[in-house]
Amino acid sequence: MTAQLIDGNALSKQLRTQVAADTVKLKAQGLTPGLAVVLVGDNPASQVYVRNKVKACEEAGLHSVLEKYEATLSEADLLARVEALNNDSSIHGILVQLPLPAHIDAQKVIEAISPAKDVDGFHIASAGALMTGLPGQEKSGFWPCTPYGCMKMLESIGYDLKGKHAVVIGRSNIVGKPMALMLLQQDATVTVAHSRTQNLKALTLQADVIVAAVGKRNVLTADMVKPGAVVLDVGMNRNPEGKLCGDVDFDGVKEVASYITPVPGGVGPMTITMLLVNTLESAQRALSEKQ
Ligand code: GUN
Repeated sequence: MTAQLIDGNALSKQLRTQVAADTVKLKAQGLTPGLAVVLVGDNPASQVYVRNKVKACEEAGLHSVLEKYEATLSEADLLARVEALNNDSSIHGILVQLPLPAHIDAQKVIEAISPAKDVDGFHIASAGALMTGLPGQEKSGFWPCTPYGCMKMLESIGYDLKGKHAVVIGRSNIVGKPMALMLLQQDATVTVAHSRTQNLKALTLQADVIVAAVGKRNVLTADMVKPGAVVLDVGMNRNPEGKLCGDVDFDGVKEVASYITPVPGGVGPMTITMLLVNTLESAQRALSEKQ
C-alpha cells in the first residue's frame, strides 16, 4: 500500500485564494487587512521567512510592512515599536520574528503585543483560545500557524478525530503543545511524546494520527507506524546530501500510512497560509467591533 499525499502547496493555494477573495470584500467595506513583520538582526533563515511572509501578503492583497532593525536594537526600543504598532489602526497583525538576539527577552516582547493583533498565536492570551474555542469561533486570541495548518490538512481529507488516538512527538511551545490542545479540542485522545519518552515505538504503534515535530531526521520510521495511520511531518531538516527533509522517513512510512505530508510541500507552506488567515480574521474582528 502507498499512502496518499496531503499536498500543502495545493491546499495553501486554495486557502490563499479564499483569503484574497475575502480581502477584496473587506476592502470594499473600507478596511484593508494589514500585517507588520518585525525582524531584528540578520539571521539568514529569518530573512528568508520574513521575505516570504511579506510576499504572501502582497499576493493575497493584504497590506504589509517589514521593519528591519540592527541586532544591537535595545529591548526598550523594540518594546516601543511594538507599542506603536499596537496603536496603529492600519495594522491588524504583528509578528516579531524569532529568534531574537540574546539581550532581548523574547517572552516579554511577545506579551507586549496586543492579544487582538497576536496573529502568531504566541501570546499567553492566545493559549486561552486553544482551550475555549474552535478556530474562527473564539472571540480573542489566535491559533498558532503551524499546528493550525496541520488541523486544516486533517480537515482537507475529511478526517474525524473523535475518539482517535493522536500521538504528537515534540513539546515545543510553537508546535507540540498547541497541537496537542487542538487535537484534544476535536475530541482526540492525545499522547505527547518528547525527548525523555521511553519506548516511543510502543506509543506510535497505537496511533491513528502521528504528528512529528522534533527537528530531527528519521524520528519516525515504518516499523513505528500502524498500517493506515495518518502522518503529518512538521520537521525541516537537511539530509547528509543537503536535501530538505522532515522528521519522518518518508520513503519507508509512505508504504504503511494511509495519508502522509511530504517535505518540502507539506506543512511548510501551510504555516504562512494560516498567518494570512489569522491576519484576515483579526481585520474582520476589528471591522465588526467598529460596526
Ligand atoms: N521563527 C520560526 N518560526 C516562526 C514563527 O512562526 N513566527 C515567528 N514570529 N518566528 C518564527
